[in-house]
Formats: sequence, C-alpha cells, structure tokens
Amino acid sequence: MGYKHLKFPENSLFLVTGGAGFIGSNLCEAILNMGYKVRCLDDLSTGKQENVDMFLDNPNYEFIKGDIKDLDTCMKACEGVDFVLNQAAWGSVPRSLEMPIFYCKNNIEGTLNMLEASRQQGVKKFVYASSSSVYGDEPKLPKTEGVEGNLLSPYALTKRCDEEWAKLYTMHYGLDTYGMRYFNVFGRRQTPYGAYAAVIPKFIKLLLKGEQPTINGDGKQSRDFTYIDNVIEANLKACLAPSEAAGEAYNIAFGGREYLIDIYYGLTEALKVDIEPNFGPDRKGDIKHSNADISKAKRLLGYDPDYSFADGIKLAIEWYKENL
Ligand SMILES: NC(=O)c1ccc[n+]([C@@H]2O[C@H](COP(=O)([O-])OP(=O)(O)OC[C@H]3O[C@@H](n4cnc5c(N)ncnc54)[C@H](O)[C@@H]3O)[C@@H](O)[C@H]2O)c1
Repeated sequence: MGYKHLKFPENSLFLVTGGAGFIGSNLCEAILNMGYKVRCLDDLSTGKQENVDMFLDNPNYEFIKGDIKDLDTCMKACEGVDFVLNQAAWGSVPRSLEMPIFYCKNNIEGTLNMLEASRQQGVKKFVYASSSSVYGDEPKLPKTEGVEGNLLSPYALTKRCDEEWAKLYTMHYGLDTYGMRYFNVFGRRQTPYGAYAAVIPKFIKLLLKGEQPTINGDGKQSRDFTYIDNVIEANLKACLAPSEAAGEAYNIAFGGREYLIDIYYGLTEALKVDIEPNFGPDRKGDIKHSNADISKAKRLLGYDPDYSFADGIKLAIEWYKENL
C-alpha cells in the first residue's frame, strides 16, 4: 500500500528527467518528502519553471536545465545517480501526428541517450515512462502486457521503441530497466492550458470559468484514469524491484474504467455548474476503450494502488479549486 514507507539506502540520489512536468514534479516532491536527494533534468520545453522553483530551497534538490537529446548532458546528469526515473518526452497523440520527426528525436533518441548514460555511469535502476498507447488498435479488454495491436500514432511508436531499447539494455548490458505503461494519469499540477491539454484538467478549468467544454466524439469512450499517487508508488516500487523483473514493461493504472461522459457530468455536479458539453469530431489516432490488467505489476513489482478514480478525482478537484 502506498509508497511513503518505502526505504532506500541512505543518501540515495534519484535523477528525474522531465522533472519540471506534471508527473516528474510529483515524483521529485514525493522523493524529497521521503528525505532522499533529487536531481531534475528538464529542458523546460513543456514543463514549467514554477515546478522547479518550488523545490529550489531544498538542499536535497538540484536542477539542471538541459536536453536529453544531448548525450553529454545525460552523462553529466547521471553522475553519481542511483535511480533514474526517465519521464522526459513530449506527450499528445494529435501533436505527434503533426510533427513525427521531432517525436522520434525527442522521445526515442532522448531515451536512448539516457539508457546509454545510465549504463556508462553505473545507475542501479532505470525506470521510464511508457504509455497505454502501445496497445494500439488491440480491442481486447482489459489490456494485458504481451497482447498489443497495430500502433496508431507516432507517439505510440516512440513509446514502443523505448520499450524495445530498454529491453535490449537489460539483455545485453545488464541495466535493470522497468517500463511504466501509464494509463491516462491525472491529479495536481497537470496543466489545463494549451491545445494539447489532458481532458480532466481542461474540463475542470473551463467549467470553473463557466465556459462550455468540447467532448471529442460521443463521450462514450472509456479510459482507466489513474491518479498521480498510484504512479508515484509504481515508480518507487520499480526502483526496489528485483533484477528478475527487469527488461519488462508494466501496466500502471488503477484497473477501472470510466466513460468520458460520466466524468463530465460528475464534474458538473461536483463543481455545481449547469453547463451542457459541445460534441466535436473524434480525434485521429484515439482508441475507443481502455482498461488495464494490472496483475503483472502487482505480482512482480508489488504495486498495490491506493487511489480509485473516485478517490483521485475528489482530490484533483480540490487542488484545482485552490490553485487555478
Ligand atoms: N500524463 C499522462 O497521462 C501520461 C500517459 C502516458 C504516458 N505519459 C508519459 O509520462 C511522461 C511524463 O508526462 P507528463 O504528463 O508529466 O508530461 P509533461 O509534459 O508535463 O512533462 C514532460 C516533461 O519533460 C520535459 N522534456 C520534454 N522533452 C525533453 C527533453 N528533450 N529534454 C529534457 N526534458 C524534456 C518537459 O519540459 C516536461 O517538463 C512522458 O514521458 C509521457 O509521455 C504520460
């Protein structure tokens, strides 16, 4: 249950790439609160300076502004590091369809640089962000590791390649790698701004402003929305996982399934607003349903998520009410 009780060797140093982003900054915060050292590497391309500034007073926190596309930067960032939590990447399926070459360089070459630097610097565990998008058009529910379909976007391809590279680094170089296939993560600090913002923060922001959100498609698509604290738990437990569990990718979700339209009306009720949604066209590269089988992560990583969607959304709403 949870992660706050987990123990790492004294003075452990964690490198969080993408630590100025949503998931990365939550990882930095959790690790600092547990009393360990964090080095954050981020180029601030989609991340926020404020997600760095909030930790700068903590002597256990160090920030390097740099790009994982540069191997030298990765080498320096990995010096003396015990655990790498590689979150740096560009997200968004639709944006990846607009700029496939950039996605290949940023999300694949960047992660490959981090794998290589981790290997050369003797990092103990390399935990990295993958995505449920690797299941592509596979209709089987729940999604189970090993049953993947045709990929539907450049973004999904980048995550699939990262998994294959990581597997090779475990196989040939003995680097312990663990892929986290996140399913629609949500919670504090996820940005509601920009054309590619995720649906939950975007809806909350618009509803709080009294504006009408647009649902892509009919709203009957479903997702295994996963609260951020479950993701923190998975990453930290992967750092403590045995080598036998390395070279694998794991579904990281709660194991539930929410329909977008139900989430919408749940939010209008919780926020006490009476606004009907707009319905727009389906998004290219999107799948209709997603729901994870999390038994592999439970069995091999000891992952045991605390927060259901209902628990998480209450906390997220409270956070946005106070912070937007
Ligand atoms: N949020 C989700 O629901 C979700 C789902 C599946 C997978 N993921 C993956 O999880 C990771 C974190 O996602 P997030 O939602 O926190 O996104 P985010 O955009 O908030 O964070 C990503 C961070 O990486 C940084 N970054 C990007 N490219 C970089 C580079 N070349 N060098 C250094 N830093 C770079 C950005 O500046 C940003 O701070 C990503 O790999 C993403 O693909 C997220």
